[in-house]
Amino acid sequence: MIKVAVSGAKGLIGARLTELWQDKFKVIPLDRTEFDIIDKKAVKDYLEKVEFDVFLHLAAYTNVDGAEKDKELAYKINVEGTKNLFNTVQQKNKKFIYISTDFVFDGKKENIPFTEKSLPNPLGWYGKTKYEGEKIVAGKAAIVRLSYPFGPSPALKQCFIHRIIGALKAKKTLKMITDSLITPTPIDNIGAGLARLIDNYRPQIFHLVGRESISPYNLGLKIARDNHLNKDLVQPITFAQYSQERAPRPQWAKIISLNQI
Ligand SMILES: NC(=O)c1ccc[n+]([C@@H]2O[C@H](COP(=O)([O-])OP(=O)(O)OC[C@H]3O[C@@H](n4cnc5c(N)ncnc54)[C@H](OP(=O)(O)O)[C@@H]3O)[C@@H](O)[C@H]2O)c1
Repeated sequence: MIKVAVSGAKGLIGARLTELWQDKFKVIPLDRTEFDIIDKKAVKDYLEKVEFDVFLHLAAYTNVDGAEKDKELAYKINVEGTKNLFNTVQQKNKKFIYISTDFVFDGKKENIPFTEKSLPNPLGWYGKTKYEGEKIVAGKAAIVRLSYPFGPSPALKQCFIHRIIGALKAKKTLKMITDSLITPTPIDNIGAGLARLIDNYRPQIFHLVGRESISPYNLGLKIARDNHLNKDLVQPITFAQYSQERAPRPQWAKIISLNQI
């Protein structure tokens, strides 16, 4: 059985992958309890003792708005943490999969759709640090960009769709953007795609994303309809209004995949 070490294994995606892959791979779940990825020596000491074939790097500072205020920490985790892990994994001559994000793109309408050939141009600090992480491993590891993962996960953090359902059930009004696109992706499809990549590893860039892009407003209406909740609680807002006092984000994040895993 292939041994897969997973950083960020208690996060939204990692916790679900650990569950999904129980019978497929020998998963070695890693989280802060094992080591902090910004601690170079701790990373090295720990990983030197662990046996694995592939390292799946999910751990990250993922709070997009928080990253603008906490620049140094976001950089340390997303850039230096990636460097610490990648250097050790390379020394062990093992395969590395770096998980990245659609936030590396600028989301300008004239540039859509964003494919693996599109040039990153991140707008916010989170996207910038994730792109710096990509540069560390580029050409030497697989880079897999994800976008708006959703679905059940045993993690403490809920996916954005479960958060919307929770808010609608609590009868909260939701302001959702009309003039923007996102590309939601089921976490279980991410699990299936990453499993294929682990079985058939190539150090390339892949977009592992859902088939359709939709505006958050239309998605909110669909979620309300599908769950028999009050759709009047979903109210339109423009991207410009939403963006006030928030980290800059890609507006038209229509992401597609050219490279089949
Ligand atoms: N969720 C999304 O919308 C999305 C979209 C595209 C791409 N991605 C990418 O997918 C990956 C996984 O995302 P996710 O949503 O599963 O993230 P998440 O739920 O925030 O989980 C991230 C995990 O990383 C751990 N971590 C953070 N800093 C660490 C450190 N210094 N040392 C060790 N562990 C650390 C966290 O532990 P603590 O909880 O203890 O901090 C957490 O368990 C990330 O690389 C992210 O950039 C996510």
